[in-house]
Amino acid sequence: MNARQLILERRSVRAYTDQPIPNEMIEEILEAAIYAPTHKLREPWRFVLANEDGQARYVDQLMNLLAARGQLDQKTDEQRQLMRQKFADVPVYLTVLYEVQGTEDQQMEDLLATAAMIQNIQLLATELGLGCCWKSGKHWFTDGYAELIGATETERVAGVIQLGWPAVIPPLKKRTAARDKLTHF
Ligand SMILES: Cc1cc2nc3c(=O)[nH]c(=O)nc-3n(C[C@H](O)[C@H](O)[C@H](O)COP(=O)(O)O)c2cc1C
Repeated sequence: MNARQLILERRSVRAYTDQPIPNEMIEEILEAAIYAPTHKLREPWRFVLANEDGQARYVDQLMNLLAARGQLDQKTDEQRQLMRQKFADVPVYLTVLYEVQGTEDQQMEDLLATAAMIQNIQLLATELGLGCCWKSGKHWFTDGYAELIGATETERVAGVIQLGWPAVIPPLKKRTAARDKLTHF
């Protein structure tokens, strides 16, 4: 697949088979993804991979965290079980951290570089036939999660990339034509 095909082929895939992904495959993806642009070669990223045995520990600790934060208080036992199952159905969680350092401009550059690197991960995963989804928001952008994953004082979570072999590949979500957002100066 050429770059254009790969970009158009990528989807946020949220349903996976239970076929495992070998660690080596993920490491191979990361070793290429890190060739994203990074100003002054700061390479601000770091990864925490929850795969194989680590995945079950990860799901346990995530559920414990949500419980401790009161996010499960309004749920019945059955709803909690369903939520746990939903997390457990994701074969791999890859947390991408980035180092927050320097001036505001540098911090912005480092977050942008990390985002470019994450898109590389998604495209490389797509090329190998894997599905992935970049997760953010209330579960993952919290101090509690940063602590759970072992982030240092100066690291932030850029996203959690779920990975697995796709069970369902969603259709393309059409975008607004770029020409509708393009001004010639
Ligand atoms: C920074 C960022 C955060 C995202 N967070 C979530 C998320 O928390 N949950 C989710 O299901 N999808 C998340 N997504 C995926 C988007 O919802 C998805 O890209 C969008 O719906 C377009 O679909 P596509 O990726 O299949 O083209 C995120 C995407 C980005 C770039």
